[in-house]
Amino acid sequence: MERTFVMIKPDGVQRNLVGEILARYEKKGYKLLAMKLMRVTEELAHQHYAEHVGKPFFPGLVEYITSGPVVALVLGGKGVVAGVRAMNGATNPANAAPGTIRGDYGIEVGRNVVHASDSVESAEREIAIYFKEEEILAYEKNVDAWLY
Ligand code: PPS
Repeated sequence: MERTFVMIKPDGVQRNLVGEILARYEKKGYKLLAMKLMRVTEELAHQHYAEHVGKPFFPGLVEYITSGPVVALVLGGKGVVAGVRAMNGATNPANAAPGTIRGDYGIEVGRNVVHASDSVESAEREIAIYFKEEEILAYEKNVDAWLY
């Protein structure tokens, strides 16, 4: 199953948007494979955003992402990498369409609520930064069996 790495950033946690954002991914049909509330250290931030080291926005990005707890997720499903990127909307919330997470909940690029991997390759790289393989669960879902 294709997997992606998603992060609800510190502003999403502080603004009580965790449940709302998770609900969108769940209702779409993506499968929750791993989830944790955690802090991103400076070291983790440098690993995660390695390709952006030296860019003008990098110090602000590190300050933002390390400023409070985040929710790290692994989601699975057919086409989940592109699908979650579409649900999140454009990187800059000013350009994000209404109906997307950033379009509905964000104003500024430096507070853009969520992160998601941009390719299958980056997803596997980012998942390995944030999760041990044993923290990622494989399981079947059967709604009827849990209702009755
Ligand atoms: S680039 O240079 O086009 O590759 O950069 P981009 O893909 O637009 O953004 C890379 C990540 O940096 C974040 N970003 C910022 N954070 C804080 N402040 C500013 N000004 C800023 N500009 C870009 C952007 O949200 C991307 O992170 P993720 O977590 O993928 O959204």
